[in-house]
Amino acid sequence: MNQDGRTRLNQMPEWTALAKHREELGAVQLRELFAADPGRGAGYTLQVGDLHIDYSKQLVTDETLRLLRELAAATDVFGLRDAMFRGEKINTTEDRAVLHTALRAARDAVVEVDGENVVPGVHAVLDRMAGFAERVRTGAWTGHTGKRIKNVVNIGIGGSDLGPAMAYEVLRSYTDRDLTVRFVSNVDGADLHEATRDLDAAETLFVIASKTFTTIETITNATSARNWLLTELKAGQDAVAKHFVALSTNAEKVGDFGIDTANMFEFWDWVGGRYSYDSAIGLSLMIAIGPDRFREMLDGFRLVDEHFRTAPAESNVPLLLGLLGIWYGNFHDAQSHAVLPYSHYLSKFTAYLQQLDMESNGKYVGRDGQEVDWQTGPVVWGTPGTNGQHAYYQLIHQGTKLIPADFIGFAEPVAEMSAELKAQHDLLMANFFAQTQALAFGKTPDEVRAEGVPEELVAHKTFQGNHPTTTILARELTPSVLGQLVALYEHKVFVQGAVWNIDSFDQWGVELGKVLAKRVEPALTEGADVPGLDASTQALVAKYRELRGR
Ligand code: F6P
Repeated sequence: MNQDGRTRLNQMPEWTALAKHREELGAVQLRELFAADPGRGAGYTLQVGDLHIDYSKQLVTDETLRLLRELAAATDVFGLRDAMFRGEKINTTEDRAVLHTALRAARDAVVEVDGENVVPGVHAVLDRMAGFAERVRTGAWTGHTGKRIKNVVNIGIGGSDLGPAMAYEVLRSYTDRDLTVRFVSNVDGADLHEATRDLDAAETLFVIASKTFTTIETITNATSARNWLLTELKAGQDAVAKHFVALSTNAEKVGDFGIDTANMFEFWDWVGGRYSYDSAIGLSLMIAIGPDRFREMLDGFRLVDEHFRTAPAESNVPLLLGLLGIWYGNFHDAQSHAVLPYSHYLSKFTAYLQQLDMESNGKYVGRDGQEVDWQTGPVVWGTPGTNGQHAYYQLIHQGTKLIPADFIGFAEPVAEMSAELKAQHDLLMANFFAQTQALAFGKTPDEVRAEGVPEELVAHKTFQGNHPTTTILARELTPSVLGQLVALYEHKVFVQGAVWNIDSFDQWGVELGKVLAKRVEPALTEGADVPGLDASTQALVAKYRELRGR
């Protein structure tokens, strides 16, 4: 029994049934599954919005899927989902509602937190953001010296950086190409240095993105940015108002920093940092792509929210993707999950998903406060194809680890390219399809022999196949499709956290490092004695000081 009275996950009959089923399936081969069911290729597919989802190359049968859905029912995934959408405080360790879905709710929707409808507030901020973004885009908003803003530098970290930075890359072809938009996150001064070294301060707007407005990296960089601006402009504090805006939940700290709260765009404690880029945290993105495109992206999010909220279990895509992850992590001992987009524009997508997934589900303590004794969140990794094919795919094909992967691709190349570059798209996508085929079906020793390969090389050239993949295919990479993709992964992560009985919305695991960094800093700068510093770290600090000549 869990301390909350629930049966332990791995003692549930539905779990045991899956373990038994896994044993019975043994080393089932995708080749066999396809041979037994000629309709599998077209049948094991689902559609959500513009996303075509093909899961035929997964190591599952109808029975596997049925048993996984039974596990989802037994763990009441849909019950928790409904509680989330209703605004209940399902983030129990922080006593907060989890309402990123309200950020993209229709204007006339009603979503209540503590008896208050939060939707009007969401749209009021979106409208203010739109007004501001338009003023910057049209040149109506000028800097302190009257010059038009040409550069936007977003300063934030984690959820206040990864989302907007990723989406800016994804939607680059929709951006105003006359604007330079950069994202600074690292407290390594090199990041801000490189982002500002060639900019005219008079034409630069800093967008300080921090939910708490206490994050040391962001406040340090924002302070340096303010000093840079005032030095470059040879101006006083009054210049700040035209060059700094804040995105935050913490008006008091924003004011303390010296940013006029009239230039603050608000969001709320029921939005987790890693679920926030469709809130005010998306302002830099909105300036880049314009309010209309931003709203199209929100429409895409909403479409998948509605699907997740209403689609039956059999056709619910986030449920399916979440359960497939559980199948591999908990019943095949897979340790990681690769996300491999075949789009250069999605180059930061997997890095974004790393925070979304790993900060959400990297937990060993359950919602009831007890340690879990089953695997939780996987290591999420990957880079765009085809680059990865020439780097690490070797290990996926012929290594000793099972690495389930999502392949994401688009039928159309981005419209703005030349005809010659667009023509390269078929080659890109030929690789996309070839890889999932090779991963699934491999090449048998007999097939290798038939090519005349000498016997001593047959084993080396054999591909065992049976590596599971999901293919996600859409016609075009639009703002709406981006919203759909992100919402899909958000809800997939939700499903897994619900089954594992963990709180996917807190992040206590990042706190210790922050506290220790504050304690260690004086040891580096002043050689101060840090009580309780362990022997290894003490020696390293001494070495560092020696290397710096201190
Ligand atoms: O360190 C982790 C974290 O708390 C993330 O959850 C969050 O996205 C990030 O820091 C940044 O926090 P903030 O937006 O408050 O600056």
